[in-house]
Amino acid sequence: MAVVASAPAKVILFGEHFVVYGEPAIVLAIDKRAYAKAETRNDKLLHVHSTNLNLAVTIENGSFRVDQGDLKEAKMKFEPVRQAAEKVLEKYGENVGLSIEISSTIPVAAGLGSSAAVVASVTAAVGTLLNVEMSKEDIFKITYEAEKYVHGTPSGVDPAIATFGGTLLFQMDTGFKPLEAEIEIPLVVGETGVERSTRVQVEKVRDIRERFPQIVDPIMHAAREISLRAIDAFKENDLETLGSLMNVNHALLYGVGVSDESLEWLVNAARKAGALGAKLTGAGGGGCMIALVRNERLEQVLEAIQRAGGRPFMARKTDEGVRVEQG
Ligand code: PMV
Repeated sequence: MAVVASAPAKVILFGEHFVVYGEPAIVLAIDKRAYAKAETRNDKLLHVHSTNLNLAVTIENGSFRVDQGDLKEAKMKFEPVRQAAEKVLEKYGENVGLSIEISSTIPVAAGLGSSAAVVASVTAAVGTLLNVEMSKEDIFKITYEAEKYVHGTPSGVDPAIATFGGTLLFQMDTGFKPLEAEIEIPLVVGETGVERSTRVQVEKVRDIRERFPQIVDPIMHAAREISLRAIDAFKENDLETLGSLMNVNHALLYGVGVSDESLEWLVNAARKAGALGAKLTGAGGGGCMIALVRNERLEQVLEAIQRAGGRPFMARKTDEGVRVEQG
């Protein structure tokens, strides 16, 4: 028997970076998903294969043997998968061999939460395969623990959105709250293709805040007001306001030094082509930007981002978090 499960990617609509200092952020699950297929094996080995990454490993008692691709890369990418599978096996109470096949429509290392989506789908697929009772809360916890390997001290946004889907308001001290909103959020995501490290970008903000606290603290405060105002705009179905708030949010992120030339090209191109608003999303310094675009302007914005050197795709909000596709 094989079980397939999937989980969604995410974009941060408002509040990235400032969320690290306690301000609220708004995160949205989008309709790009990672898929994991799990099957039992007759031996006690764990085999993991990713079709997109062209990587395959066999893991025996925690030690990796590479079957396809580079060992170091495979360890980095698959260690969270191993940890999640182990956690589910612990709950199952017996060590069985597993084959896990991963395929994904989510761009990798672009700030869209690909690794959390992969781990959440693996956790759900293995759990269902072995008939282990698991709530979404359990899947979230396992995914969060495994993600610590990738990010050190992640805020938990990626595992939460991959597990629960929808729109979440996140704040360090209060955690996650679903933002019930009927609103359609027509987004275009533009990939710059520039790789960046979340850790380095977070350090940049810490440095500038330490150097100029009197200047950066009011920026943080403004970011808070943006997220709070955005919550009202969501409820009022007010796309115009959301677009304007995205533009202001981008200006603040630029101000603390986390935009870069590749992002500026795409953000400006999207605005010129008629987007209601555009901003970087996630850590910045490359990675992705998002534009809020009415349907009648979609083609123009997609084309403008492409001409400015980006890889654009349309994204829609998805309410569905992790789910089993077939059992
Ligand atoms: O680009 P990502 O998905 O790694 O987003 C990072 C978001 C930050 O706010 C910059 C960091 C964090 O832990 O919230």
